[in-house]
Amino acid sequence: FAVHLLASYLTKLKEDPIKKVDRFLYHMRLSDETLLEIMARFQAEMEKGLRKDTNPTAAVKMLPTFVRAIPDGSEHGEFLSLDLGGSKFRVSKVQVSEEGKHKVHMESQFYPVTGEITRGNGSQLFEYVADCLADFMEAKDLKQKELPLGFTFSFPYWQTKLDEGVLLSWTKKFKARGVQDTDVVSHLRRALQKHPDLHVDILALVSDTVGTMMTCAYDDPYCEVGVIIGTGSNACYMEDMSNIDLVEGDEGRMCINTEWGAFGDDGVLEDIRTEFDRELDLGSLHPGKQLFEKMISGLYLGELVRLILLKMTRAGLLFGGKASCALHTKDKIETRHVAAMEKYKEGLANTKEILTNLGLEPSEADCAAVQQVCTIVSFRSANLCAAALAAILTRLRENKKLVRLRTTVGVDGTLYKTHPQYPKRLHKVVRKLAPNCDVRFLLSESGSTKGAAMVTAVASRVQAQRKQ
Ligand code: GLC
Repeated sequence: FAVHLLASYLTKLKEDPIKKVDRFLYHMRLSDETLLEIMARFQAEMEKGLRKDTNPTAAVKMLPTFVRAIPDGSEHGEFLSLDLGGSKFRVSKVQVSEEGKHKVHMESQFYPVTGEITRGNGSQLFEYVADCLADFMEAKDLKQKELPLGFTFSFPYWQTKLDEGVLLSWTKKFKARGVQDTDVVSHLRRALQKHPDLHVDILALVSDTVGTMMTCAYDDPYCEVGVIIGTGSNACYMEDMSNIDLVEGDEGRMCINTEWGAFGDDGVLEDIRTEFDRELDLGSLHPGKQLFEKMISGLYLGELVRLILLKMTRAGLLFGGKASCALHTKDKIETRHVAAMEKYKEGLANTKEILTNLGLEPSEADCAAVQQVCTIVSFRSANLCAAALAAILTRLRENKKLVRLRTTVGVDGTLYKTHPQYPKRLHKVVRKLAPNCDVRFLLSESGSTKGAAMVTAVASRVQAQRKQ
């Protein structure tokens, strides 16, 4: 009888593709209790990063940004902005005017960054950046102008002032030699010396999170958090100076770049990491680093899905046990595929097409199962992001000694912008985990680029005041 029961159970399992996946990925479906636990751990990590004695060993670095205020609307002028570290490298001219409705006007040009550049010699990387800037200024007829520049550089660096940052480590797809432990602004200035005809003044080095927060804050003064869910994932928020041990002074606030991507690098997330997370990490450019980010961001979700599908196929649970060459190949499934497979209406058809293009022969049930794999992987990403974000919001509320906090979070990043259900899931879980916070989420289009101009605008105002 028991054998019979087991046999019928196994057939049922085979029949229902969704249940089959749910069971297989049981460990990836995080309960509310687990999320609350992760939130509590992240709260502890923030504290550890902020304290002088514990910062050196903290995984979450909580980096001071020297951005002390959100824009007040009086910013104006013409600025250059470089944005390196996201899905694309972008050079822009940003016009900020005091009057009118559309106060920020932007003209941009995207430039390709190949693996040769991101993983080559550091000086070549910055020379390329300078060459692109020169090309842009030539094309836009800006060469004769003297312009302040904001550099959005989306990696962890230690700042002691606004226009200096010592790279702590490369993340994502970058690994250029000779840059770690050196000041990136000096690299860029040196590279610009090869273009004596350009007159640019690098005034600010900005994280994309900070840029996003600043852009949103320009439209909504309640904005005090910036989140990126794109190629990488990270967040910043306004912290009380009295809680920032690493910077002198107790007055006012300063924006802290949390670098939450590194959460778990000291082992605190081992209980929730799966064999797929470990395998992905081992095959990545920076093994052992950015473990939280590797469970969340756009650079990795597709690869996680591929590793899961491969394992399920090997176990005979998909495609009649027959994998394809493409399914065995790293990065063949990208996050944009995951998003396409999860689309409301076309999702199933997209799934079939994507799998067929990978050389697989999917049945209807296989397609439904693969969709479920995508859903679980992207749901987990949104859940984890929500847990860390809820920790930040709770901290803000406690800092202000409020029972309820009303605040705005600026968000940018390709995954958040292009995945059909991501924003909704994230918002819902944040509200559940931080019920005492009334949160408005504001999508910040090109936030990182515009924000660099905002920070630069404030800096150039201060510089002008000093010269007077
Ligand atoms: C990575 C970088 C971080 C950046 C994030 C989003 O986590 O280390 O600085 O903000 O990606 O681009």
